[in-house]
Amino acid sequence: MKQLLQDVPEYIKSLVPYPPGKPKDELEREYGIKDSIKLASNENDLGPSPSAVEKIKGILKELHRYPDGSSYYLKKELANRYDVRPSNLVLGNGSNELIDFLCRIFIREGRNAISSRPSFLVYSKMVQITGGKNRVIPLKNATHDLAAIADAVDDKTRLIFLDNPNNPMGTVISYGDLEHFLSCLPNHLIVVLDEAYGEFVKPGTDWAEGISFFRKYKNIVILRTFSKAYGLAGLRIGYGIMDDAIAALCDRVRQPFNVNLPAQEGALAALKDDRHLRLTLENTWEQMIELSNKIRELGCIPFESNTNFMLVDTHRQAKVLFEAMLKKGIIIRSMDSYGFPTYIRVTIGTPEENQRFIKAFSEVIKEIPKNKGRD
Ligand SMILES: Cc1ncc(COP(=O)(O)O)c(C=O)c1O
Repeated sequence: MKQLLQDVPEYIKSLVPYPPGKPKDELEREYGIKDSIKLASNENDLGPSPSAVEKIKGILKELHRYPDGSSYYLKKELANRYDVRPSNLVLGNGSNELIDFLCRIFIREGRNAISSRPSFLVYSKMVQITGGKNRVIPLKNATHDLAAIADAVDDKTRLIFLDNPNNPMGTVISYGDLEHFLSCLPNHLIVVLDEAYGEFVKPGTDWAEGISFFRKYKNIVILRTFSKAYGLAGLRIGYGIMDDAIAALCDRVRQPFNVNLPAQEGALAALKDDRHLRLTLENTWEQMIELSNKIRELGCIPFESNTNFMLVDTHRQAKVLFEAMLKKGIIIRSMDSYGFPTYIRVTIGTPEENQRFIKAFSEVIKEIPKNKGRD
């Protein structure tokens, strides 16, 4: 056994497990509280699409069957919506799985991938698992530093990850900036445009939505998920839109039934449930304004966001604040481990949840001293 473990490469041993938001049940047991609310993982607090729930109930008696390995109907619906071919689509067990496919296909020892810091942690993790090197470029003015990313490209670069909107900043890349960036890149690499929060981008925003570049650039992959706006995080389903040739490679590396039956059926129903999506977006946009105003009144700094979460500079130690909020039954994310010791990230919940958040937050910040140098 000892020898077996010694043989594991250092890049695997040094991986850090992904820090999930604390599950509600665990928190309630630990702190002896009830009715906690979770605003830590950017889920949809309005719940799943009711049509998806009904659809899933109806197929439970089919659970003894394998799902459709080609996800025919879901691909067909998505292809219609984006005006692409079904062969441009790959479905995954969450959009995370698409990141995994791309790393396994294109990255190995001696190759590298570029991502930003901070951005979604899974990119660098998947790159490390496949033995590649991560080149990590700090954000500039709270968004991707496209010029520095382009400079970091070399002949060994195979993937560039851009979460657009960015997690955790909530900022977007403008149309002109992405157009310029894509036009300058060599074609031995793929730009992954991760639009996990794309649905939440406010109308009228100058946002470089990937699909508008799809016909012009063959080397982009657009990632989307049902975990956020569609409220289906627990089903684990996401998709990628890409050139047929890249999709065919993903099809080779994926497991035969990687997307389960309830996920396929639920996603298809959610996609057609315009009402649920509209209510979700209206709630998020309205509550975002409400929450920002209240946070500002309390002397903290909310960041403008095009997602369903918001970064807040609390001017206080975020770790301490996180613990104090936990005791009041509210789970948020401390951004301490991302290198932002005074920042928290909070998901936009329902109006009731947000009121509870504000009430607890206003009580807690009175008890935690401001960091030195703050007025
Ligand atoms: C930027 C970003 N991309 C992808 C994902 C993963 O989504 P999925 O649940 O589809 O794997 C997340 C989840 O938090 C995210 O923040």
